Amino acid sequence: MPYSRLKRLLVVGVIGACLFGAGCQSLEEMAPPVTGATGNVSALSHGRSLFVTRCATCHGITPVADHSYAEWQGIVTEMAERSKLVGTDEGDILAYLRTVSRH
Ligand code: HEC
Repeated sequence: MPYSRLKRLLVVGVIGACLFGAGCQSLEEMAPPVTGATGNVSALSHGRSLFVTRCATCHGITPVADHSYAEWQGIVTEMAERSKLVGTDEGDILAYLRTVSRH
């Protein structure tokens, strides 16, 4: 592949990452994956997937590290209605945040 094309791909990639929100952090930095986590991994990955999609529809992803778990509890309660969460959604998001946030 010609160098210029490769460079363009890289630039597009970086812009794509920046569009996701906060600075130019990667998705993995903003919302750490739960691979290797113990516990209910399917609930945790469901929580993460809601966090990076549903919670990002209005304002992009807020990096997990921006808030303590205690803060996240209040935020998610506040945002739950706006996000039209159903069933275990809210609990799964909180379980995910409890697993990956600072405490
Ligand atoms: C329908 C739009 C919408 C959805 C969906 C939504 N938010 Fe928000 N969020 C907002 C708006 C608007 C604000 C600005 C502050 C306010 O109005 O409370 C905000 C503010 C925030 C803030 C900043 C609050 C602070 O104290 O700094 C965080 C963090 C946040 N949202 C996280 C989330 C999470 C987590 C979810 C998913 C559970 C979510 N949001 C879903 C609209 C939304």
